[in-house]
Amino acid sequence: MLKKIDHIGIAVNSLEDAVRFYEILGVNVTSSEEVPSQKVKVAFIKLGDSNIELLEPTSEDSPVAKFLDKKGEGIHHLCYEVKDISESLDVMKKEGIKLINEEPVKGAHGKLVAFVHPKSANGVLTELSQPAV
Ligand code: CO
Repeated sequence: MLKKIDHIGIAVNSLEDAVRFYEILGVNVTSSEEVPSQKVKVAFIKLGDSNIELLEPTSEDSPVAKFLDKKGEGIHHLCYEVKDISESLDVMKKEGIKLINEEPVKGAHGKLVAFVHPKSANGVLTELSQPAV
């Protein structure tokens, strides 16, 4: 089901400040956009076949704002690429895996994504992402 690690999501207070660290390390933002479904602004830094996704909340009730309040900046989620997200979600539902999104939602780059509850994923907030065709 899992093809590769698509990205690692990192919650940050400020994209602008966070990006500086990566620029010092010699890598640049490859794309940035607002993702209304998650109430965040994101910046992607492509590293080989994977990406770092920096997430800054755009609203107080963003899941990322709540994360920052509780834990501060840090690794927020891990995202795996899957071939067919609906099929993956069906399999997980049948196996009793706790999902945050029962159906795919629109994530960054217009890709279909869905979050799996950390309780069913060894404490890791897990995102599945289907590449845009
Ligand atoms: Co993500």
